[in-house]
Amino acid sequence: MSVLNPKFSAQMQLTELQQKIQQTAARMPAAATALPAQAYTDPDFYQWEVEHIFHKQWLCIGHISQVPKPGDYVNLDLLDESISIVRGKDNLIRVLSRVCPHRGMDMMPPGFGHPTEGNRRSFLCPYHHWSYGLDGSLMGAPEMQQSEEFVGGASQKENREKICLPTFRSEIWQGFIFVTFDSQLEPVSTHYARLLPYLERWNMAEMNMVANLKWECQFNWKVLVENFMESYHHLGAHSKTLEPMIPATGTWAEPELANGIVCHLPLAKSIVEKMKSGQPDQMFAAPSHLQASDRERYSVCLGTPNFLLFIGPDRVYWYLLLPNSEREMTIHTTLLVTPESQELPDFDRLLDREIVALKQFHLEDVEVCTAVQRGLRSSVYTPGPLGHLEISVWQFQQYLARQIQAVTNK
Ligand code: FES
Ligand SMILES: [Fe+2]
Repeated sequence: MSVLNPKFSAQMQLTELQQKIQQTAARMPAAATALPAQAYTDPDFYQWEVEHIFHKQWLCIGHISQVPKPGDYVNLDLLDESISIVRGKDNLIRVLSRVCPHRGMDMMPPGFGHPTEGNRRSFLCPYHHWSYGLDGSLMGAPEMQQSEEFVGGASQKENREKICLPTFRSEIWQGFIFVTFDSQLEPVSTHYARLLPYLERWNMAEMNMVANLKWECQFNWKVLVENFMESYHHLGAHSKTLEPMIPATGTWAEPELANGIVCHLPLAKSIVEKMKSGQPDQMFAAPSHLQASDRERYSVCLGTPNFLLFIGPDRVYWYLLLPNSEREMTIHTTLLVTPESQELPDFDRLLDREIVALKQFHLEDVEVCTAVQRGLRSSVYTPGPLGHLEISVWQFQQYLARQIQAVTNK
């Protein structure tokens, strides 16, 4: 009787799935199909993605307007890391670990009443009251005078510098805060250089985040990315909300960029006419350097793997995507507007209206994405053909196939 080595068998399945993904991506657009269901349901493939995608690339985790003043911080949980984005007294934004270097406590664990954002002068670990500055340096550790680490050998100052909250490598680009676990990765500005022409006119570093809604979701991160990047589903999922304003027909994709995908979503003719006649529905104040074409369309933009923007003539929606497992993720749907918008006399009313709309169309997406994840578990589902309005899904497949190729070629 032969006994299967479960590890070996899992490896075989992972390799086979990766080959299937590559074969799917290799089809020409007119023959494109959806990916095999296991790409969204297989825990081994998810672990592979964590190791080879999320641990190797730039991940967008915040916007500078979330931490405008020294001491401002925002906590988030990214993969297995407990993180705090903090603006220091020196005005630098750092991405610190919340894990105390004493016995490893997450100093502000979710679910125990700790605020997830705010302003602080220092960090205090609740376990044994070690304290840290906003730059992560150790400030105090009570009753540790008999530990060699504090008094022996080297000077106390040197020891103190050694014991600190670890800092993750981070960079700011276009107002967004990016982190990476890879010390060798090229700078963000190089990595996303080809996306710049589609973003820079919005001057997003000057914009302010005015809404931030958190959602715990029961679907794979790629289900959300694919949904975000194709507008074909406006016909169905958003037939009453987005479709009348941004019809699915007429949307189109730029050729795939290095580390990015961009699609354009022209506004409905009736809306453009209204805008030209000077009587649009009330809008936020537009960024000042937009071109004429920017005012007549929305665009969706993916900086691989998780930087998602939905850009309109008077606003930017940024989605913070935090994968938790092969079938769970946390999303923050956020809205950014120009500072001039916040000066509008009825800004509060306008914002309330837009938050209601944001919740409504996002709930429509949550329903279809949750239901897709359910459907992908079915034994009778085989991946169906993609249409021309889903070219960005095919482009995303190219990206995934390249990641697999890069690892298998090593
Ligand atoms: S674990 Fe933080 S002070 Fe002990
Ligand atoms: Fe949608």
